[in-house]
Amino acid sequence: MPVVTARISSATWSHLRLRQSAHLRDLVSETTFTASQLIQPIFVVEGLTDAEPVPGLGDNSRLGPAAALETIARDVDAGVRHFLIFAVPSRRGAGGPADQKTKGPGGVDFAHAARTAAAIKQRFGDSICLWLDVCLCGVTDHGHCAILDEDERIDLDRTLDALAACAVAVAEAGADGVSPSDMMDGRTARIRSALDEAGHGRVLIMSYSTKFASSFYGPFREAASSSPRFGDRRHYQIDVRSRRDAIASSVRCANEGADLLMVKPGLTSLDLIAPIVASTGKPVGAYQVSGEFASLVALAAQGLADFDAALVETWHVLRRAGAAYIITYGARRARALGFGA
Ligand code: PBG
Repeated sequence: MPVVTARISSATWSHLRLRQSAHLRDLVSETTFTASQLIQPIFVVEGLTDAEPVPGLGDNSRLGPAAALETIARDVDAGVRHFLIFAVPSRRGAGGPADQKTKGPGGVDFAHAARTAAAIKQRFGDSICLWLDVCLCGVTDHGHCAILDEDERIDLDRTLDALAACAVAVAEAGADGVSPSDMMDGRTARIRSALDEAGHGRVLIMSYSTKFASSFYGPFREAASSSPRFGDRRHYQIDVRSRRDAIASSVRCANEGADLLMVKPGLTSLDLIAPIVASTGKPVGAYQVSGEFASLVALAAQGLADFDAALVETWHVLRRAGAAYIITYGARRARALGFGA
């Protein structure tokens, strides 16, 4: 590879002078990160006996419970310390009042999530930090993040009951933290008080506090079978045009007791990280969502980008914008790419 250097002679101050070598660029670089600031999502699918690739998501697969443990073991060896688990059950509840009597609130069933958390904690103990995503879109038959009434309107009371029940169930099973991704009003406060009442005051809440209605969740919805059967999520996720609402949403989660805040999707929310940090004083992370990650996979597959270089570039950009931590489908590559803890 030819090395392009400049002949710097006349300028009293030159941008080029400080970019001449890797050592100089490193000397004045302002952001970095280690594998310990990245969180690896894992899809654990009930009843699956092996691994099933997720379209577009590279080496991320839908995993049966046994395969998930093996994947986590390999990821731990590769330096990953934080895992965000999406537990995908084989059966879904009606998510309506009719089912109320037979199972948990709204007929939704968190047994698979609890079993998954317990199995992972039993094997890995405190060598990892285990986060469980808390939402209803993977357990309701209509695929919305809420329990709906007969008129297909959000039944907020039952929804909050169900979210709190899910959080307590996975905390009981040993989760270190819960991560509500539903965007319902008041869920962080409700989950915090439910956890505390159940004796889980130590369990953290990492709220998806600024989460937009986005076109970038496609591969995830395939992986978690969580596409809404009708309508979309614009009734409860934030409109991308709305900056005020986006910041206020995180401020409210902070006030309700969230320990960690988050913007999502990451790259489309860069401008919001610093203002949220300024108004809450809390750590704010960024979720590099499935569609963002898949766009890098797709570019590389066409020979239009170097995948690893593009991935690392996006991580640096998220850190530069102020992200304390990053949830990324590439966390398991960090150490190999030179970002060991
Ligand atoms: C569930 C949930 C979604 C994601 C995380 N939790 C999908 C959605 O809200 O539709 C998206 C994550 C990703 O795309 O990687 N509510």
